[in-house]
Amino acid sequence: MRSNKSLQPNGTKPAKTQPPVVKGRAAVVLPWTLLSSSSQQTDRLGQALGRTLRGGETIALYGPLGAGKTALVRGIAQGLGAAPEAVTSPTFVVIHECQGRLPLAHMDWYRITSLRELESTGVMEYFSGQTVTAIEWADKGLALLPQDRIEITLSHRAKQSRAIQLNATGPMSGKVLARTRQAHRRMPNKISNKKRITRS
Ligand SMILES: Nc1ncnc2c1ncn2[C@@H]1O[C@H](COP(=O)(O)OP(=O)(O)O)[C@@H](O)[C@H]1O
Ligand SMILES: [Mg+2]
Repeated sequence: MRSNKSLQPNGTKPAKTQPPVVKGRAAVVLPWTLLSSSSQQTDRLGQALGRTLRGGETIALYGPLGAGKTALVRGIAQGLGAAPEAVTSPTFVVIHECQGRLPLAHMDWYRITSLRELESTGVMEYFSGQTVTAIEWADKGLALLPQDRIEITLSHRAKQSRAIQLNATGPMSGKVLARTRQAHRRMPNKISNKKRITRS
């Protein structure tokens, strides 16, 4: 008989990596990999991340079409208190902004063909200040990304199943990732939308 003992309260499989290693006062956050078995679980991860953001973070998203990048950004928007419906697949729009407790700039660089083209869209202006940027197809503009960023790679495992690896490349993203892991662990299976902030 299969046991569910290895599942976390929120239904996802536990991380295969070790918890954060504490070296002196700075926590070194190791990559965190989890398996999402549904778009709801991906959404829940996004919500955990959205709730822990403090402003100014860059989230670089990698993975093929249909991997769940936009689904994850919807969760992030909701975790920030914005309406998840505001997040769409902006096929022809490079930047789409929405507002929760922090501004969120959702970018999709799928159609970008050169760094020059990307620079001309003014994306760099979003990397300072309080705006959270979530970038799909971030690999198209690696050279323009801030050094300290959260990197998330999604890959297909089965029809409803995705492997999601999260990595922090600096101290700010490291702290966010450590908090996100805690928030995700504590998050119940079904989360309510009541906390959503609505702005007129
Ligand atoms: N575990 C999962 N996580 C995320 N999406 C999933 C999952 N299982 C199935 N899906 C489906 O895969 C599709 C992902 O689409 P989308 O988020 O737009 O992908 P991308 O932005 O990477 O191209 C959606 O139709 C979603 O319902
Ligand atoms: Mg997308």
